[in-house]
Amino acid sequence: MTVTQPPLSHPDAWWRDAVFYQIYPRSFADANGDGMGDLSGIIDKVPYLESLGIDAVWLSPFYPSPGVDAGYDVANYFDIAPEFGTLDQADQLIAALHQAGIKVVIDLVPNHTSSEHEWFRQALEAGPGSPERERYHFRYSDDGMPNNWGSLFGGSAWASVHELTGKEEDRHWYYLHLFAPEQPDVNWDHPDVHEHFEQFLRFWCVRGIDGFRVDVAHALVKAPGLPDDDVGPDRWQVLDPDEEVEKQPDSGPAFNQPGVHEIYRHWRAVLNDYGEDKLLVAEAWVEPASELANYVRSDEMSQAFNFPFLKAGWDAQAMRHVIDETMEANAAVGAPTTWVLSNHDVVRHATRFGYPCGTDIERGIGPDDPQPDEELGLRRARAATLFMLALPGSVYLYQGEELGLPEHTTVPPEARQDPSWFRTDGVVRGRDGCRIPLPWSAQGPAYGFNETGQSWLPQPADWGRFAPEQQDDSASTLLMYRAALALRARLSLGRGELQWVEAPDGVLAFDNGEHRIILNVTDEEQSIPATGSVIMTSWAGVVSDQDADPCRWDTDTVTVPANGCVWIEK
Ligand code: GLC
Ligand code: CA
Repeated sequence: MTVTQPPLSHPDAWWRDAVFYQIYPRSFADANGDGMGDLSGIIDKVPYLESLGIDAVWLSPFYPSPGVDAGYDVANYFDIAPEFGTLDQADQLIAALHQAGIKVVIDLVPNHTSSEHEWFRQALEAGPGSPERERYHFRYSDDGMPNNWGSLFGGSAWASVHELTGKEEDRHWYYLHLFAPEQPDVNWDHPDVHEHFEQFLRFWCVRGIDGFRVDVAHALVKAPGLPDDDVGPDRWQVLDPDEEVEKQPDSGPAFNQPGVHEIYRHWRAVLNDYGEDKLLVAEAWVEPASELANYVRSDEMSQAFNFPFLKAGWDAQAMRHVIDETMEANAAVGAPTTWVLSNHDVVRHATRFGYPCGTDIERGIGPDDPQPDEELGLRRARAATLFMLALPGSVYLYQGEELGLPEHTTVPPEARQDPSWFRTDGVVRGRDGCRIPLPWSAQGPAYGFNETGQSWLPQPADWGRFAPEQQDDSASTLLMYRAALALRARLSLGRGELQWVEAPDGVLAFDNGEHRIILNVTDEEQSIPATGSVIMTSWAGVVSDQDADPCRWDTDTVTVPANGCVWIEK
């Protein structure tokens, strides 16, 4: 079956097949040694970023913030957090990345502000019924919470105003927070909110930003009247700490309301004032694929993260199903597809794949949980990555995955930072394990993250073995990424077409132009008919000739090891 690329609405856009690299600033590189990554640290690493062969970086939030949700609680959208640096340094970073041919995408957090944002402070001060409170969702209820919604971090989505201000007039008043109470949701029916985010886009476009990643893009608009949902107040269904935890999907009156699309159409028009190629990418946990595709219609966003691909697991059928479904849904609206395996909100794929397929690790992993098979996880992660990099569309990588970095699965309770840990009494382990500061050297304080040894989250004892300087042989994960990115660009795989090729159970094979990609998801080696030369393998990086071991060539057959992926030039 051929899944042809549709006539794309923006065929020449740079982002169509770009490889994005997500930088989580607080964990990337720490130049001043306070334990928190910073902009100077990123500037120092621009040569490293350039050497990877990426097209763009996406920077997670760097704005002033109390840091309750690691910066996704923004107190001022027009400045840089002092712990990260200054606006001047942001300008320097943008210039240095552009100089290196790397585009710059930043995070836009429009669903909520920090409770330290001046608007929220003014709202608390101004009291019930004031115009200041209309910028958020304040509600009166003398009969429990104003509705039954639960926070995505656990517990109710409503917090008591009276408990914050202590004022009698605030008794029975609540405000809405889909995330932490320190992240009040703004009211997108209010003109000031529209105006504020338009100013935000303009402010950062003027500074040279190439695009925006839109945080919880599916939640901005709520159903009128904020009716009860079907999920109820416990989105994690945390009944008993020993029970299986079932997370409820992002559905109901707080999500994916038709009104969000008007906002994105407007933003598109605003961005077009700065050239037609500014990127908007949606973080929208919306299913099915046809609903998600609505976010990437030609006059809305450019892309949406393909989370169904990330969630497909190590399962050939599920992967193929997601690939077909998302490519078809996007084709219908003329948008290219994106692919992603890791980010700052999920267990790193080198660890995910170290569990039997179907193991529920959505709540994160702690010291008392079953531990992954690290070697198997890495082998599969490398194969999945190579497979992903050969698909048409664009790709999002998360810092550290190019090192084969696993999750830190034994973060001690006292070091935990993620609000979901606190709001569920530790039943949800949270996302700290994928946010551990990177190792840059084999030895030394904080493994080269800085020179003082401080670290806002603890690094595991053996972190140094993943450092780039340890990865200079061609079989290393880092060199596999570099080689694959270079080949992907040279062969224009991101602009190609996908044609499935028949393969045994547990094996996925497709042609992309003159190249055949084979992924073996089984635990046994598989011999697949294929003629040509092997140009990449997930177990030994680049392969220059047909004798390379352990990829053996029979006349017309390639033998792909268990949990491996191979690229063949036909
Ligand atoms: C997004 C971010 C996540 C954050 C949440 C609230 O899902 O990726 O890290 O906690 O939004 O802003
Ligand atoms: Ca620092």
